[in-house]
Amino acid sequence: MKVIVVKDQAAGGKEGYKVFKDALDNGAKVFGLATGSTPVTTYKEIVNSDLDFSNCTSINLDEYVGIKPSNEQSYKYFMQSNLFDKKPFKESFLPNGLAADPEAEVKRYDKIIDEHPIDLQILGLGRNGHIGFNEPGTSRDVTTHVVNLTESTIEANSRFFASENDVPKQAFSMGLASIMKSKHLLLEAFGENKADAVKGMIEGPDTVDLPASILQNHPDVTVIIDEAAASKLS
Ligand code: F6R
Repeated sequence: MKVIVVKDQAAGGKEGYKVFKDALDNGAKVFGLATGSTPVTTYKEIVNSDLDFSNCTSINLDEYVGIKPSNEQSYKYFMQSNLFDKKPFKESFLPNGLAADPEAEVKRYDKIIDEHPIDLQILGLGRNGHIGFNEPGTSRDVTTHVVNLTESTIEANSRFFASENDVPKQAFSMGLASIMKSKHLLLEAFGENKADAVKGMIEGPDTVDLPASILQNHPDVTVIIDEAAASKLS
């Protein structure tokens, strides 16, 4: 694991941008993307650059179940407004949160990932150590699946909704097995409330109780954290 500690999230965005640029320069064609507050500074740097993704494919980690793409809280909407409107990809895939048949949707998504092996996957980190929506205790063998979100994640994500009750209770998520297949992983975490999860991920035991600790087994991981998120590292 290559760990880069920066002053703050703005500086983290600049480092994250460099990782995307290097990947593109080295021929990467498929980018795994994340939503949430963490990657926004990296996406902003990309939007303000001359990087060109028009020959590339993007595949997002996850999407809430039961939310329309036109809903501002959907991950599809987030991706459009934070990245795709300014930096279009040749094709962009997200799980369909409105899929009538969730099992068929899971299979469809796994097939997309199999047919487009991911060169670079960006990840955020949940306060409970989740990556994608793989909550503590999730088996490491699963690929895309429907997740029941934990109370802690629902509470953490309620800041994006009018109330906690409006946060969907389920999401489609790539599984840990899907994530581990990516050639290069870039995990970003900013802020003091990520410090415990960062410590567990980097220094703690490799355990299903802290899903991100699985990254200790991946051969090519870059971690970008700010000083606050790094504050509990020894
Ligand atoms: C989002 C995702 C989640 C977030 C994580 C951190 O696509 O898969 O794992 O990365 O919940 O969220 P933020 O960045 O909002 O702190």
